[in-house]
Amino acid sequence: MPDPDPTAAELIAARPALCADAFDGLLFEGVPLAAVAAEFGSPCWVYGAATLRARYRRLETALPGVAIHYAVKANDHLAVLSLLAGLGAGADVVSGGELLRALQAGFAPGKIVFSGVGKSADELRLALHHRIGQINVESAEELALLSSIAAAEGATARVALRVNPDVDAGTHTKISTGRLGDKFGIPLADIPSLYAHAAALLGIAPVGLAVHIGSQIFASAPFTNAYTLLANTVRALRQAALPVEMVDCGGGLGVPYRNEPAALPEAWAGAMNRAFAGLDLRRAVEPGRWIAAPAGILLARVIRTRRRGVPQPVVVLDAAMNDLLRPAMYEAWHGIVPVGAADLLRTPEIADIAGPVCESSDYFARSRALPPLEDGALVAILDAGAYGAVMSSTYNARPLAAQVMVHDGAATLIRPRRAPEFLWSDEKIPAYCRPA
Ligand code: LLP
Repeated sequence: MPDPDPTAAELIAARPALCADAFDGLLFEGVPLAAVAAEFGSPCWVYGAATLRARYRRLETALPGVAIHYAVKANDHLAVLSLLAGLGAGADVVSGGELLRALQAGFAPGKIVFSGVGKSADELRLALHHRIGQINVESAEELALLSSIAAAEGATARVALRVNPDVDAGTHTKISTGRLGDKFGIPLADIPSLYAHAAALLGIAPVGLAVHIGSQIFASAPFTNAYTLLANTVRALRQAALPVEMVDCGGGLGVPYRNEPAALPEAWAGAMNRAFAGLDLRRAVEPGRWIAAPAGILLARVIRTRRRGVPQPVVVLDAAMNDLLRPAMYEAWHGIVPVGAADLLRTPEIADIAGPVCESSDYFARSRALPPLEDGALVAILDAGAYGAVMSSTYNARPLAAQVMVHDGAATLIRPRRAPEFLWSDEKIPAYCRPA
């Protein structure tokens, strides 16, 4: 018997930011979403400042003494970054662009960690120039390049080697990063010799080890396994008289999108405590999704419902896969809840929910229980605060959606909907392409 989807009421009840009001319909952090759509249009991303704050504080409490470097890739809006920087977070960045964004948002350079498998010479130079806290190096080649750049600039890079522990995180294959076949990190067996080599290299100060085995992880066993391998390696390095100050335990803590049992930050902390007990090490983490996902929704409007010639109704929204790619890319399940007060009470029917993009994969959900919705009715696509707007494209010449933040009962536009002209504002037409 298949596990039935949660109802709209269950989805709302499980999310502290949401509330159904008999008059105003669905509220996000106390703000009626219908009012947000009326003011800013749709599709529209809505982020909750209080939720971001609460998620960060919750992690901080569960992980005492652990430095939290928010994974900027999850949601890189300056307002989100700035809010988290203000709470004391550091940042985990994976490109020169993210590094500049993090600095722009106010993160102290010393609290920025640079991860990623393909940092270019320019990006490494940029990181050294801004004296960021740490560079997580992912290969012997990157280490050699970094050493030559740092030496030439008279700088010293604080480096952690990112280990590929060959641990299966048990998550979707497209977001697994810790198996040997994944492109990330340095095989565990190569770490001792490379770490010793790093210690002897000009411009390099090895400070520790990093690991990140994947994203949307619910079990503590893969974390425990990866951290235990890391701890054993730390012991081996120290036995060889190599300095190891810290371990970067990566991100990956899962969030319930459907009805998965919540992954508790305390369980994550437990995995670290078990593995690193007795080792005097600073610890850091790089969570993205756990902080940002529940702090955002994508607000969309029904354009029309196709009922003829299809096996079940197809509700076509004004949001599409170019806005929120996760369902099309990872078959991800996102809750979809009506916004209108009356719609919240109506009996659902089974429908497919799609976007207007010309791709057969442009669905937000298949066979989902949703009340019959009038054209123009609003829906909220839940848990879209992480890997949402950051993965948007302008495919089909669809302008990027507006972004709004709610705080203390009021909504503020934090990025306007892009005008269509913006899409081609920097395109040039060579003379030979012009009609005669
Ligand atoms: N650190 C590193 C080195 C990473 O590669 C990632 C995510 C994180 C930290 C943050 O992981 P989190 O705590 O958010 O799970 N677009 C996909 C997720 C890709 C994650 C990539 N790396 C999705 O929408 O599910």
